[in-house]
Amino acid sequence: MSVRRLADDSVQPDSFAFTPKNLSWAKQTIKKYPKGKQVSAVIPVLWRAQEQHDGWVSRAAMEEVGRMLDMPFIRVYEIATFYTMFQLAPVGKKAHVQVCGTTPCMLRGSEDLMAVCKRRISEQQHTLSEDGDFSWEEVECLGACVNAPMIQIFADTYEDLTPAAMEELLDKIAKGQKVKPGPQVDRIMSAPEGGLTSLDGEVVPAKKAASKKSPAKAAGKAAPAKKATASKKAAPAKKATKPAPARPAAASKPGPERLDKPRGNADDLKLISGVGPKLEQTLNKLGFWHFAQIAKWTKKDIAIVDDELSFKGRIERDDWVRQARALAKGGEAEYVKIFGKKPR
Ligand code: FES
Repeated sequence: MSVRRLADDSVQPDSFAFTPKNLSWAKQTIKKYPKGKQVSAVIPVLWRAQEQHDGWVSRAAMEEVGRMLDMPFIRVYEIATFYTMFQLAPVGKKAHVQVCGTTPCMLRGSEDLMAVCKRRISEQQHTLSEDGDFSWEEVECLGACVNAPMIQIFADTYEDLTPAAMEELLDKIAKGQKVKPGPQVDRIMSAPEGGLTSLDGEVVPAKKAASKKSPAKAAGKAAPAKKATASKKAAPAKKATKPAPARPAAASKPGPERLDKPRGNADDLKLISGVGPKLEQTLNKLGFWHFAQIAKWTKKDIAIVDDELSFKGRIERDDWVRQARALAKGGEAEYVKIFGKKPR
């Protein structure tokens, strides 16, 4: 990309002033920014200046914007020279062609498009054609790489170009004819050329799809067995395995004391903060029915139950053991004494 400098004095106008309409728009725009942050309006206001001034921003326009925003002129020059959306010298009246020269576009032929610009507009970038209607420049990625190679003319992009399509486009613009922005081939946006190649079938509601039978099933035939291939060896017979041992009852599990059933009435474990109805059922299945059981859990027991419940750390984080100890010792009254609030 070339170094971006302000145009020569020979083309710089002496002054710049917004039209009343644009001035009112600029003032409204500046007001949208919080107090003390008005300088943030520099890009939209500069852009409006460019639109008013035949597609480029002169030094006088930059300085006027700087005065309006109370910004040092150098800050406005920095912004205008950094962003390629701002043109620093006069551009073609009918088109300023920005050709993307970044890798995807380059690999897909942007150099050929630049050759067309050189031949038809000017050998040098940022130079007006003889009639002053066209100018061109190479720019970095314009974000339409999927349809590379592409160009931008003012606010529109033209994609999937070939040198011939580019010539045709410039011919139409020169004659003042309408041109169609976007892809220049048979595709919608960035969809495949010639139409969709996937997700283009009938949309079948899930229920209907599930009830559809395979053709073989629908005809009442069994699906053909897969042919055995010569190279396939017979699978070795599976070793006889011992029958799996019966699942141990809760009481015989390792770790903390467990019971297959409660001793009398089970405690309401949901009084422990952190235990809900579902967790209470799980605890019961694991053999825990009473506060007194939980009150006795050691660190090792907690690690075992943590594993069984598959949520590490919750028992300690919610202090189940201390809560259970209070509830086992004196019910809700003891709980309130220790924790200063009712359980749950
Ligand atoms: S590389 Fe050309 S648009 Fe992105």
